[in-house]
Amino acid sequence: MFNKVAELHKTCFPHRPWAADEFRDLKKSGCEIIASDNGFIVWRTVCDEAELITIGVHPHARGTGIAIAMLGIMENEVKKLGAKKIFLEVSAENAPAIALYKKCGFVQNGLRPKYYDGVDAILMVKDI
Ligand SMILES: CC(C)(COP(=O)(O)OP(=O)(O)OC[C@H]1O[C@@H](n2cnc3c(N)ncnc32)[C@H](O)[C@@H]1OP(=O)(O)O)[C@@H](O)C(=O)NCCC(=O)NCCS
Repeated sequence: MFNKVAELHKTCFPHRPWAADEFRDLKKSGCEIIASDNGFIVWRTVCDEAELITIGVHPHARGTGIAIAMLGIMENEVKKLGAKKIFLEVSAENAPAIALYKKCGFVQNGLRPKYYDGVDAILMVKDI
């Protein structure tokens, strides 16, 4: 599973791929990982807060609702654990992801200037 998700992560984030061991460590540290041939999502829940760590969909499968579906699964799972908010951060240049998060009810609650190699990071939150 970790090799498969690392391969897909590399397809989605060619400039900053994560190795299988990094996903193994995330799992060991308490993160949840869902992965299929077409998509993956990783999150963490601590007390009443959840954090989206990463999400990606294979380029050939984009635009078919997979990301929305995975975010829905995450939301249901973290609610069961008592989470009241979901946090995430996204590059200000990642228009598809920002549109996805807004569509799913996330709103901007902060900005980290020049966080990703000179590009701002937008912080977003959703009350659930
Ligand atoms: C962002 C990403 C996960 C979206 O996955 P997806 O499965 O194609 O998204 P969905 O089909 O569920 O789309 C849901 C909504 O997101 C928005 N969206 C998705 N792709 C978009 C695009 N290329 N342009 C504009 N809006 C887009 C739309 O609002 C869309 O709803 P609509 O189809 O009714 O217009 C995917 O593009 C991806 O893997 N990108 C590379 C990795 C990445 O950037 N991850 C996020 C890091 S923070």
